[in-house]
Amino acid sequence: MLLDALGLDAFYGQSQVLHGCSIDVAEGECLALLGRNGVGKTTLVHALGGLHPVKRGTVTFAGTDITAMPPEKRLRAGITLVPQGHRVFRSLTVAENLQVSLRPPGSDGWTMDDVFDRFPILHERSTQVAGRLSGGQQQMLSVARAMLGNGRLMLMDEPAEGLDPQRVALIGSIIKELKQRGTSVLLVEQRVSFATGVADRVSFMNRGEVTDTLGIATVREDPTIVTRQLGLVAS
Ligand SMILES: Nc1ncnc2c1ncn2[C@@H]1O[C@H](COP(=O)(O)OP(=O)(O)O)[C@@H](O)[C@H]1O
Ligand SMILES: [Mg+2]
Repeated sequence: MLLDALGLDAFYGQSQVLHGCSIDVAEGECLALLGRNGVGKTTLVHALGGLHPVKRGTVTFAGTDITAMPPEKRLRAGITLVPQGHRVFRSLTVAENLQVSLRPPGSDGWTMDDVFDRFPILHERSTQVAGRLSGGQQQMLSVARAMLGNGRLMLMDEPAEGLDPQRVALIGSIIKELKQRGTSVLLVEQRVSFATGVADRVSFMNRGEVTDTLGIATVREDPTIVTRQLGLVAS
């Protein structure tokens, strides 16, 4: 496995949010992580990106224990992040936002031209400050920034949130292209149909832990599995 997180506990103050949470992502796959609001998906993504401390458990990435590694170092090691809720540098221009994210693309990586080609609107708006973009455009910028990080694993926290169907489809095609280029994706999603359309496996999260992981063929054969898995949360 490229990423292997085992038995993570995480807290906000006294309140425990991750309870022995384990998840793994294989080389070149898209793993969708589904779960209702508040089960701890974002906290898990932050723990994997080094933005939230874990009290217990280990995170291994490409064979290295990164549990105590700070976020900048994880980024350099190849873990990129699309945070929930289109976070960009609002006072920098679109081009500056992209330039600060750019890491050497190597032979198969993303260049500025590549992202301008996939997101023409970012090219058109490249000299505007990012804070003046619409929410959807900022989300595109956030995804583009993560692409230019040229990592081996992209953590995407609800990248399709608030986007129109055309842009959701664009994010889907970007995920497929990332996989073709050998980048793994951990996709946190609420939109089940979008997630199951691009994922190779699906993990279900309930109250701070991953309770089940299924191959995509199993999920597509019987879509009621998803409702039942997510329904467990309500009980
Ligand atoms: N900064 C915070 N301080 C205290 N509690 C938080 C904070 N962020 C999230 N929580 C709580 O932690 C739980 C998990 O939140 P989160 O990881 O954002 O879940 P999800 O992404 O699945 O919606 C929720 O109960 C939420 O209220
Ligand atoms: Mg969240």
